[in-house]
Amino acid sequence: MDKIIIDGGKKLNGDVHISGAKNAALPIMVSALLTPGVSTFHNIPDLVDIKTIKKLLRNLGVKIEGESTVKVNTENINNCEAPYDLVKTMRASVLVLGPLVARMGVARVSLPGGCAIGARPVNLHIKALQDLGAEVELKDGYVDAKAKRLKGTTIYFDISTVTGTENIMMAACLAEGTTLLKNAAKEPEVVNLADVLNAMGAKIIGAGTDIIRIDGVDQLHPIEASVIPDRIEAGTFMIAAGITGGDVRILGCEPSHLDALILKLRDAGMEITIIDGGIRATTRKKIKSVDIKTLPYPGFPTDLQAQIMALMSVANGLSVIAETVFENRFMHVSELMRMGADILIHGNSAMVKGIPKLKGAQVMATDLRASASLILAGLAAEGKTELSRVYHIDRGYQEIEKKFSALGADIKRVSG
Ligand code: EPZ
Repeated sequence: MDKIIIDGGKKLNGDVHISGAKNAALPIMVSALLTPGVSTFHNIPDLVDIKTIKKLLRNLGVKIEGESTVKVNTENINNCEAPYDLVKTMRASVLVLGPLVARMGVARVSLPGGCAIGARPVNLHIKALQDLGAEVELKDGYVDAKAKRLKGTTIYFDISTVTGTENIMMAACLAEGTTLLKNAAKEPEVVNLADVLNAMGAKIIGAGTDIIRIDGVDQLHPIEASVIPDRIEAGTFMIAAGITGGDVRILGCEPSHLDALILKLRDAGMEITIIDGGIRATTRKKIKSVDIKTLPYPGFPTDLQAQIMALMSVANGLSVIAETVFENRFMHVSELMRMGADILIHGNSAMVKGIPKLKGAQVMATDLRASASLILAGLAAEGKTELSRVYHIDRGYQEIEKKFSALGADIKRVSG
């Protein structure tokens, strides 16, 4: 198995180009299922999770061509099952449920099973689909759903759920009548998907707010569209500039998607400047500790919690980091402590006492964002860090070690 070896202590300097957003590309590629024909999507990142969604779609009879520009041909869907072997590797596979029931009238989708960061059930997806009139049965670890035609209604999500909102928003596009989604997720990826669906002929208003209205239509048509930049990748590189005392221009990102992080990094003493084509993140003085509470968008993203914890582990002072979205997203803490970090977990909060310097060590990735946090820690640490289980990082970051070494980091991948 590959490992990533980092020799830390180098200040990062220069430009990095941000790839398309994984969490927008996945639902957008799936949305093509809603209409027969060939849809074209641009700015698709080169990630393991994208390869998985392609496998899943091909398994349904979809023809797919291309890498950064992908053509999705949904003329001949000949299977409506998402098998456990694929779904267990990527929970977002559950996104095919809504579109298949809406267009094909039937779907059989494996339940995703457990995840390192939390139980992550899909009960809200299922409840909302039942509210739209689908008959749903849970059998042998699968969700069996069917409906002649879904019927619009008012749906309230007990918890703001990103893929839940996306799944049901897609299904409601072809329902009879009007659907209101209340306490809907407001993430930029949800808005990107709604824009793509509206380009296909859907009637969606209110995406980006917590009430989304969808007036169902009889059919949609294929389109050509682009995926937004990855705000989590951009945030990871901004924090990398901070933890190495560097000066980095993050190009091709959308600054308005990163407000919460920008404000926190400024509070921590970094200079964050909005520039043409992106953001400049500069560190001129020692990082100060700040408190963080993760929340659904526009709150501080849970997908940047691990990365900012690495930064706070070398900040001046004590910071409290509260994780309110997932119940088990502190797997990186014990690995950071192997590098000398001083962190105490209490319930869903971590008290991080900043230390002058981390020390390189052998550490293990446990999930996608935890592995990003360990790479950041390795970039700042004294000596060598050896990160194993790097398959986690390849799920969500395109050529991360190439991008960091272009900024002056001493980082390489070695095959095990
Ligand atoms: C999306 O996951 C992202 N994944 C996650 O990114 C991200 O961490 C998460 O949103 C929160 O921002 C994709 O978009 C593919 P949720 P999702 O449903 O939709 C509970 C990454 O690193 N819940 O918004 O699965 C759930 O357990 C990944 O790129 C239910 O209880 O997250 C969690 O506590 C990791 N029942 C909370 O809601 C449900 O039916 C929010 O989860 C659905 C969710």
